[in-house]
Amino acid sequence: MHYYFAPMEGVTGAVYRRTHHEFFSGVDKYFMPFITPTTNEKLTPRQKRDVLPEYNEGVPAVPQLLTKSAADCIWAVNALHDLGYPEVNLNLGCPSGTVTAKGKGAGFLAHPDELDRFFDEVFAKCEGISVKTRLGVHEASEFDKLLEIYNRYPITELTIHPRVRQDFYKGKVRESDFAAALPRCSMPVCYNGDLITERDVSAVSERYPDLPAVMIGRALIADPSLVMRLTGGKAADAKMLETFHDTLFVRYCEAFGDSRIAMLRMKEIWFYHLNLFENSEKTGKAIKKAQNAAEFQAAAAAVFRDCRVRANAVPLWFKPA
Ligand SMILES: Cc1cc2nc3c(=O)[nH]c(=O)nc-3n(C[C@H](O)[C@H](O)[C@H](O)COP(=O)(O)O)c2cc1C
Repeated sequence: MHYYFAPMEGVTGAVYRRTHHEFFSGVDKYFMPFITPTTNEKLTPRQKRDVLPEYNEGVPAVPQLLTKSAADCIWAVNALHDLGYPEVNLNLGCPSGTVTAKGKGAGFLAHPDELDRFFDEVFAKCEGISVKTRLGVHEASEFDKLLEIYNRYPITELTIHPRVRQDFYKGKVRESDFAAALPRCSMPVCYNGDLITERDVSAVSERYPDLPAVMIGRALIADPSLVMRLTGGKAADAKMLETFHDTLFVRYCEAFGDSRIAMLRMKEIWFYHLNLFENSEKTGKAIKKAQNAAEFQAAAAAVFRDCRVRANAVPLWFKPA
């Protein structure tokens, strides 16, 4: 089984990926949060700070594109190949209203004929493209037509998040629809969605013994040694988690040149990471309320000192349907 770190915009940027990879073994690929290729065929300075190889040294990182323009996709895929990335991922899963309103991300799934023409143009000029998709926009049955299209192109790997766009991240994943689709996929498939514990991952492996890969997002932010444990390593103790956390904070301070911005980035991580600690509600509130770096560091230190590390995260981020 291969283990992938899911892309998470605003969370798994270059600093996070590098630091996680340095502390925790086992992740085979780190997917970068999406970038939208510009029409002027240049990466923006901000995109460069995440994507350029010097910011990803030693990390098996895969860039991701969010676009519905074949021309923009073609230049960006080839530019990323030239930078040394053999694989570029295409985002067909983002459910955000601002993205789907423009027909991108999961919004592209509403226009299968357009998607077919897009692939036709892109694959005539590019290779090394993987895709991350949902099952559809409104209904999982939309996946029949989408998969018929995907199967006609040399997509290197298809990551399926078995929800539709309208689900956002709410309710249970549509497990039976994934099970029905899997044998009909002609390319290697990666499963993504709501894997929290080692048990969850082994259940997926047992259910789908030929599945080559799983991708984990929120639970890996919550519990950064999850994949290390899955690949035979030891669980991180509070000391290791604290060292990882403090290193990350110092590096964000350096990267942003501003400890307040670094703190805000760390608060995004704590939204998930707090779920790994017992009785962390009170200290967690102090992290949320922290106004400056000193308050933040004191509150974070209190969690590592006072709250027991759970064997697995308890995902309070789950939302009912
Ligand atoms: C804050 C946040 C940002 C995300 N950013 C991206 C992104 O840039 N590209 C993408 O393909 N998916 C993105 N996702 C979706 C995740 O990659 C993943 O598919 C989702 O969290 C479900 O997996 P999980 O249950 O293991 O977290 C994002 C999700 C969240 C919660």
